[in-house]
Amino acid sequence: MRALRLLPPALLLCLGTAAAEQAGKGTLPPQAADSLRFAVIGDSGTGDRAAYELAAQLAKSRDIFPFDFALMLGDNMYGRERPRDFEKKFERPYKPLIDAGVKFHASLGNHDDPNQVSYKLFNMDGRRYYSFKPRGGARFFALDSNYMDPPQLEWLEKELAASGSDWKICFFHHPLYSSGERHGPSLQLRAVLEPLFVKHGVSLVLSGHEHFYERIKPRRGIHYFIAGSSAKLRRNGIKRTEITARGYDQDRVFMLMEIAGEELHFQAITRTGERIDSGTLKRIERKDAAVP
Ligand SMILES: [Fe+2]
Repeated sequence: MRALRLLPPALLLCLGTAAAEQAGKGTLPPQAADSLRFAVIGDSGTGDRAAYELAAQLAKSRDIFPFDFALMLGDNMYGRERPRDFEKKFERPYKPLIDAGVKFHASLGNHDDPNQVSYKLFNMDGRRYYSFKPRGGARFFALDSNYMDPPQLEWLEKELAASGSDWKICFFHHPLYSSGERHGPSLQLRAVLEPLFVKHGVSLVLSGHEHFYERIKPRRGIHYFIAGSSAKLRRNGIKRTEITARGYDQDRVFMLMEIAGEELHFQAITRTGERIDSGTLKRIERKDAAVP
Protein backbone atom coordinates (compact mmCIF):
# COMPACT_ATOMS: atom_id res chain seq x y z
CA MET A 1 0.00 0.00 0.00
CA ARG A 2 2.95 2.30 0.52
CA ALA A 3 3.40 2.88 -3.19
CA LEU A 4 -0.09 4.32 -3.39
CA ARG A 5 1.04 7.38 -1.48
CA LEU A 6 3.22 8.30 -4.43
CA LEU A 7 0.28 8.44 -6.81
CA PRO A 8 -1.47 11.73 -7.52
CA PRO A 9 -4.83 12.08 -5.74
CA ALA A 10 -6.85 11.75 -8.97
CA LEU A 11 -5.30 8.38 -9.70
CA LEU A 12 -5.82 7.19 -6.15
CA LEU A 13 -9.50 7.79 -6.62
CA CYS A 14 -9.42 5.60 -9.72
CA LEU A 15 -8.12 2.56 -7.91
CA GLY A 16 -11.53 1.55 -6.69
CA THR A 17 -12.39 -0.29 -3.53
CA ALA A 18 -11.83 -4.02 -3.94
CA ALA A 19 -8.60 -5.89 -4.51
CA ALA A 20 -10.08 -7.80 -7.43
CA GLU A 21 -10.60 -4.63 -9.42
CA GLN A 22 -7.75 -4.02 -11.75
CA ALA A 23 -6.57 -2.39 -14.91
CA GLY A 24 -4.15 -4.13 -17.23
CA LYS A 25 -3.36 -5.19 -20.74
CA GLY A 26 -5.91 -6.96 -22.86
CA THR A 27 -9.18 -8.80 -22.53
CA LEU A 28 -9.53 -11.37 -19.78
CA PRO A 29 -10.91 -14.81 -20.68
CA PRO A 30 -14.18 -16.02 -19.15
CA GLN A 31 -14.03 -17.25 -15.59
CA ALA A 32 -16.61 -20.01 -15.98
CA ALA A 33 -17.35 -22.26 -18.94
CA ASP A 34 -21.14 -22.15 -18.71
CA SER A 35 -21.56 -18.48 -17.79
CA LEU A 36 -23.86 -15.99 -19.50
CA ARG A 37 -21.66 -13.57 -21.44
CA PHE A 38 -22.52 -10.31 -23.16
CA ALA A 39 -21.00 -7.06 -24.37
CA VAL A 40 -22.14 -3.49 -23.71
CA ILE A 41 -21.77 -0.48 -26.00
CA GLY A 42 -23.17 3.02 -25.65
CA ASP A 43 -23.37 6.13 -27.82
CA SER A 44 -21.86 4.11 -30.61
CA GLY A 45 -23.53 5.49 -33.72
CA THR A 46 -21.14 8.01 -35.25
CA GLY A 47 -19.79 5.91 -38.10
CA ASP A 48 -16.45 7.63 -37.76
CA ARG A 49 -13.02 6.09 -37.62
CA ALA A 50 -12.95 5.71 -33.84
CA ALA A 51 -16.29 3.88 -33.95
CA TYR A 52 -14.88 1.41 -36.47
CA GLU A 53 -11.76 0.88 -34.39
CA LEU A 54 -13.81 0.28 -31.27
CA ALA A 55 -16.04 -2.20 -33.09
CA ALA A 56 -12.97 -4.03 -34.45
CA GLN A 57 -11.51 -4.28 -30.96
CA LEU A 58 -14.81 -5.64 -29.65
CA ALA A 59 -14.82 -8.31 -32.36
CA LYS A 60 -11.22 -9.17 -31.48
CA SER A 61 -12.13 -9.49 -27.81
CA ARG A 62 -14.65 -12.15 -28.72
CA ASP A 63 -11.79 -14.51 -29.68
CA ILE A 64 -10.79 -14.47 -26.02
CA PHE A 65 -14.12 -13.78 -24.40
CA PRO A 66 -16.90 -15.35 -26.49
CA PHE A 67 -20.17 -13.52 -25.87
CA ASP A 68 -23.60 -14.23 -27.31
CA PHE A 69 -25.24 -10.85 -27.40
CA ALA A 70 -24.65 -7.14 -26.95
CA LEU A 71 -26.61 -4.38 -25.24
CA MET A 72 -26.82 -0.94 -26.84
CA LEU A 73 -27.30 1.93 -24.40
CA GLY A 74 -28.73 4.46 -26.84
CA ASP A 75 -27.57 7.09 -29.29
CA ASN A 76 -27.21 4.18 -31.65
CA MET A 77 -27.35 6.53 -34.61
CA TYR A 78 -26.18 10.14 -34.77
CA GLY A 79 -27.38 12.41 -37.56
CA ARG A 80 -29.40 11.10 -40.45
CA GLU A 81 -30.96 7.66 -40.37
CA ARG A 82 -31.28 6.60 -43.99
CA PRO A 83 -30.66 2.93 -44.88
CA ARG A 84 -27.14 3.90 -45.90
CA ASP A 85 -26.60 5.43 -42.44
CA PHE A 86 -27.62 2.20 -40.74
CA GLU A 87 -25.10 0.52 -42.97
CA LYS A 88 -22.31 2.99 -42.30
CA LYS A 89 -22.93 3.54 -38.59
CA PHE A 90 -23.85 0.03 -37.53
CA GLU A 91 -23.89 -2.79 -40.06
CA ARG A 92 -20.42 -2.25 -41.49
CA PRO A 93 -18.44 -1.64 -38.28
CA TYR A 94 -20.20 -4.48 -36.46
CA LYS A 95 -20.32 -6.86 -39.46
CA PRO A 96 -17.98 -9.51 -38.00
CA LEU A 97 -20.18 -9.78 -34.91
CA ILE A 98 -23.47 -9.71 -36.84
CA ASP A 99 -22.13 -12.39 -39.19
CA ALA A 100 -21.06 -14.47 -36.19
CA GLY A 101 -24.65 -14.44 -34.90
CA VAL A 102 -24.19 -11.96 -32.05
CA LYS A 103 -27.61 -10.48 -31.29
CA PHE A 104 -27.81 -6.76 -30.48
CA HIS A 105 -30.51 -5.47 -28.13
CA ALA A 106 -30.93 -1.71 -28.35
CA SER A 107 -32.43 0.99 -26.17
CA LEU A 108 -33.24 4.46 -27.46
CA GLY A 109 -31.15 7.56 -26.79
CA ASN A 110 -32.02 11.21 -27.30
CA HIS A 111 -30.41 11.20 -30.76
CA ASP A 112 -32.31 8.14 -31.93
CA ASP A 113 -35.33 8.22 -34.20
CA PRO A 114 -38.08 6.22 -32.45
CA ASN A 115 -38.52 4.30 -35.71
CA GLN A 116 -35.38 2.38 -34.79
CA VAL A 117 -37.70 0.07 -32.86
CA SER A 118 -38.56 -1.52 -36.22
CA TYR A 119 -34.99 -1.99 -37.38
CA LYS A 120 -34.51 -5.73 -37.38
CA LEU A 121 -30.91 -5.88 -36.20
CA PHE A 122 -31.70 -3.93 -33.02
CA ASN A 123 -34.13 -6.69 -31.98
CA MET A 124 -36.67 -4.38 -30.38
CA ASP A 125 -39.64 -5.95 -32.20
CA GLY A 126 -41.40 -2.61 -32.54
CA ARG A 127 -41.24 -1.80 -28.82
CA ARG A 128 -39.50 1.16 -27.19
CA TYR A 129 -39.29 -0.80 -23.91
CA TYR A 130 -39.15 -4.55 -23.56
CA SER A 131 -37.56 -7.35 -21.60
CA PHE A 132 -35.82 -10.56 -22.54
CA LYS A 133 -34.38 -13.55 -20.79
CA PRO A 134 -31.43 -15.06 -22.63
CA ARG A 135 -31.13 -18.17 -20.48
CA GLY A 136 -30.98 -19.12 -16.81
CA GLY A 137 -30.54 -16.68 -13.98
CA ALA A 138 -30.95 -13.25 -15.61
CA ARG A 139 -33.58 -11.03 -17.18
CA PHE A 140 -32.83 -7.80 -19.02
CA PHE A 141 -35.13 -4.78 -19.16
CA ALA A 142 -34.59 -2.21 -21.91
CA LEU A 143 -36.21 1.12 -21.08
CA ASP A 144 -36.89 4.27 -23.05
CA SER A 145 -35.56 7.00 -20.77
CA ASN A 146 -36.58 9.72 -23.25
CA TYR A 147 -40.25 9.30 -22.29
CA MET A 148 -40.70 7.70 -18.92
CA ASP A 149 -44.47 7.92 -19.04
CA PRO A 150 -46.91 6.20 -16.65
CA PRO A 151 -47.68 3.26 -18.98
CA GLN A 152 -43.97 2.44 -19.17
CA LEU A 153 -43.58 2.66 -15.39
CA GLU A 154 -46.60 0.43 -14.89
CA TRP A 155 -45.24 -2.06 -17.37
CA LEU A 156 -41.84 -2.03 -15.64
CA GLU A 157 -43.30 -2.57 -12.19
CA LYS A 158 -45.40 -5.45 -13.44
CA GLU A 159 -42.53 -7.06 -15.32
CA LEU A 160 -40.11 -6.71 -12.41
CA ALA A 161 -42.65 -8.12 -9.97
CA ALA A 162 -43.42 -11.07 -12.24
CA SER A 163 -39.79 -11.88 -12.96
CA GLY A 164 -38.31 -14.60 -10.85
CA SER A 165 -34.85 -14.00 -12.30
CA ASP A 166 -31.94 -13.91 -9.87
CA TRP A 167 -30.27 -11.09 -11.81
CA LYS A 168 -32.50 -8.24 -12.90
CA ILE A 169 -30.59 -5.92 -15.19
CA CYS A 170 -31.97 -2.63 -16.52
CA PHE A 171 -30.42 -0.67 -19.35
CA PHE A 172 -31.40 2.69 -20.80
CA HIS A 173 -29.79 5.87 -22.04
CA HIS A 174 -29.87 8.55 -19.32
CA PRO A 175 -27.89 7.75 -16.15
CA LEU A 176 -29.46 8.04 -12.69
CA TYR A 177 -26.02 8.67 -11.21
CA SER A 178 -23.17 10.40 -12.98
CA SER A 179 -20.15 12.53 -12.26
CA GLY A 180 -20.33 14.11 -15.69
CA GLU A 181 -19.46 17.74 -16.04
CA ARG A 182 -21.80 18.16 -19.00
CA HIS A 183 -25.02 16.30 -18.16
CA GLY A 184 -24.77 14.90 -14.62
CA PRO A 185 -27.41 12.61 -13.15
CA SER A 186 -31.00 12.56 -14.28
CA LEU A 187 -32.70 13.30 -10.99
CA GLN A 188 -36.25 13.15 -12.31
CA LEU A 189 -35.68 9.68 -13.66
CA ARG A 190 -34.00 8.64 -10.45
CA ALA A 191 -37.04 9.75 -8.46
CA VAL A 192 -39.35 7.42 -10.37
CA LEU A 193 -37.06 4.51 -11.21
CA GLU A 194 -34.89 3.99 -8.17
CA PRO A 195 -37.77 3.06 -5.83
CA LEU A 196 -38.86 0.38 -8.30
CA PHE A 197 -35.31 -0.93 -8.66
CA VAL A 198 -34.90 -1.17 -4.90
CA LYS A 199 -38.33 -2.68 -4.30
CA HIS A 200 -37.97 -5.36 -6.96
CA GLY A 201 -34.34 -6.30 -6.50
CA VAL A 202 -32.64 -4.87 -9.59
CA SER A 203 -28.93 -5.62 -9.20
CA LEU A 204 -27.38 -3.84 -12.15
CA VAL A 205 -28.17 -0.69 -14.17
CA LEU A 206 -26.34 0.30 -17.36
CA SER A 207 -26.59 3.70 -19.04
CA GLY A 208 -24.86 5.86 -21.63
CA HIS A 209 -25.42 9.50 -22.64
CA GLU A 210 -22.27 10.70 -20.87
CA HIS A 211 -19.38 10.07 -23.23
CA PHE A 212 -17.06 8.37 -20.79
CA TYR A 213 -16.82 5.29 -18.60
CA GLU A 214 -17.83 5.44 -14.97
CA ARG A 215 -18.41 2.76 -12.39
CA ILE A 216 -20.44 4.18 -9.55
CA LYS A 217 -20.10 2.97 -5.98
CA PRO A 218 -23.26 0.94 -5.20
CA ARG A 219 -26.26 3.13 -4.46
CA ARG A 220 -28.92 1.54 -2.26
CA GLY A 221 -27.44 -1.84 -3.07
CA ILE A 222 -27.53 -1.37 -6.86
CA HIS A 223 -24.52 -1.37 -9.18
CA TYR A 224 -24.50 1.42 -11.78
CA PHE A 225 -22.24 1.78 -14.80
CA ILE A 226 -22.00 4.44 -17.48
CA ALA A 227 -20.60 3.24 -20.79
CA GLY A 228 -21.35 6.03 -23.20
CA SER A 229 -18.03 6.33 -24.98
CA SER A 230 -18.15 3.55 -27.56
CA ALA A 231 -17.77 6.13 -30.35
CA LYS A 232 -18.28 9.60 -28.89
CA LEU A 233 -15.77 10.74 -26.31
CA ARG A 234 -15.80 13.66 -23.91
CA ARG A 235 -12.18 13.81 -22.88
CA ASN A 236 -11.75 14.97 -19.26
CA GLY A 237 -15.54 14.98 -18.96
CA ILE A 238 -15.65 13.41 -15.52
CA LYS A 239 -15.85 15.78 -12.62
CA ARG A 240 -14.69 13.33 -10.00
CA THR A 241 -16.97 13.00 -7.03
CA GLU A 242 -17.23 10.67 -4.05
CA ILE A 243 -19.62 8.38 -5.94
CA THR A 244 -16.96 7.40 -8.51
CA ALA A 245 -15.46 3.96 -7.99
CA ARG A 246 -13.62 4.17 -11.32
CA GLY A 247 -13.74 6.76 -14.05
CA TYR A 248 -12.09 6.86 -17.45
CA ASP A 249 -12.47 9.58 -20.05
CA GLN A 250 -9.39 9.32 -22.26
CA ASP A 251 -10.53 6.93 -25.00
CA ARG A 252 -13.48 4.95 -26.34
CA VAL A 253 -14.64 2.03 -24.22
CA PHE A 254 -16.86 -1.04 -24.42
CA MET A 255 -17.70 -3.47 -21.65
CA LEU A 256 -17.72 -7.25 -21.34
CA MET A 257 -19.81 -8.96 -18.69
CA GLU A 258 -20.21 -12.48 -17.45
CA ILE A 259 -22.76 -13.82 -15.02
CA ALA A 260 -21.85 -16.96 -13.15
CA GLY A 261 -24.32 -17.74 -10.38
CA GLU A 262 -24.26 -15.03 -7.73
CA GLU A 263 -21.28 -13.27 -9.28
CA LEU A 264 -20.91 -10.91 -12.20
CA HIS A 265 -17.47 -10.34 -13.68
CA PHE A 266 -17.00 -7.16 -15.67
CA GLN A 267 -14.25 -5.59 -17.73
CA ALA A 268 -13.97 -2.30 -19.56
CA ILE A 269 -11.74 -2.28 -22.63
CA THR A 270 -10.56 0.64 -24.75
CA ARG A 271 -10.44 1.04 -28.50
CA THR A 272 -6.76 0.06 -28.40
CA GLY A 273 -7.38 -3.03 -26.26
CA GLU A 274 -6.31 -1.69 -22.90
CA ARG A 275 -8.28 -3.00 -19.93
CA ILE A 276 -9.02 0.06 -17.83
CA ASP A 277 -11.23 -1.61 -15.27
CA SER A 278 -12.31 -5.07 -14.21
CA GLY A 279 -13.67 -6.80 -11.17
CA THR A 280 -16.41 -8.91 -9.67
CA LEU A 281 -19.76 -7.83 -8.33
CA LYS A 282 -21.92 -9.82 -6.02
CA ARG A 283 -25.64 -9.83 -6.37
CA ILE A 284 -26.68 -7.82 -3.37
CA GLU A 285 -29.66 -9.01 -1.40
CA ARG A 286 -32.23 -6.34 -0.65
CA LYS A 287 -31.81 -6.74 3.08
CA ASP A 288 -28.15 -5.74 2.63
CA ALA A 289 -28.95 -2.61 0.67
CA ALA A 290 -27.48 0.41 2.41
CA VAL A 291 -29.02 3.81 1.85
CA PRO A 292 -26.14 6.22 1.13
FE1 LIG B 1 -27.35 11.06 -25.43
